[in-house]
Amino acid sequence: RTVGVVLAGGVGQRVGLNTPKQLVKIAGKTILEHTLALFDGAPEVDEIIVMMTPGFTEEVERIVALNGFRKVSKILEGGASRPDTTWRALKALGAQECDVLLHDAVRPLLEPRIITECVEALKVYSAVDVAIPSSDTIVVAAPGPRGEIVRDIPERSRLRRGQTPQCFRLSVIREAYERAFADPGFDRQPPTDDCGVVLRYLPDVPIYIVPGSEHNMKVTHPVDVFIADKLFQLAAGAAPEHSPFAYREAMEGRTMVVFGGS
Ligand code: CTP
Repeated sequence: RTVGVVLAGGVGQRVGLNTPKQLVKIAGKTILEHTLALFDGAPEVDEIIVMMTPGFTEEVERIVALNGFRKVSKILEGGASRPDTTWRALKALGAQECDVLLHDAVRPLLEPRIITECVEALKVYSAVDVAIPSSDTIVVAAPGPRGEIVRDIPERSRLRRGQTPQCFRLSVIREAYERAFADPGFDRQPPTDDCGVVLRYLPDVPIYIVPGSEHNMKVTHPVDVFIADKLFQLAAGAAPEHSPFAYREAMEGRTMVVFGGS
């Protein structure tokens, strides 16, 4: 049994609107609707739990009813931080054994191929990450006399950018979180994703990497809303049935795509 957990408990401070960014509309639908449609339509996913920003769960109920999403079993309030939200979802899943796919609601351009490969990988590994190579050089910064200075430049070929879904046997991620929340130091420097919790508290568990995709972007800053909207529009132009993944085919015939250009 495979459960998709859609993490939508944040407020989207960096996008800076009055409503959480997952309720922003792109290509005519909210970001959350696009993401839920993906999981609801994925043959590998049996059940979906939505973790929503406190005060907005009724909005999700409306969205689920309106779209007729059939796999959504629970709509719950998220916590104060992302790890809090994940922990609440894990508790809601109880003591059953299943596979869980933890996905950022604000990555609406996830490709079904990635879900398929994650579920396949979980037959062998109990923890699976999704990551892509970094095109930028990543520098480690440290405080300097005036602003920051470069402390280190790790070899780029070894670096990956972590995405979601991050996927686990439920018993493994639950064990990692139980240890994390029993550790008084956890809150001082919490890992920024769920694989980080497994890596820190269950270091012997190998975490397999499924190749992610540049398109599986996380809507984080205002410009990302614009880019995601353009990607969906391009998809709509390429396929009348509005598949967000058809833009690749659209791009194959082009030498250059200018976002926002005419
Ligand atoms: N998230 C969550 N619960 C939280 C915080 C974040 O479920 N307490 C979710 C967000 O809704 C989002 C995902 O985790 O889908 C990735 O987090 P991020 O992009 O950092 O979202 P926000 O916390 O909403 O953004 P910001 O940091 O700009 O406020």
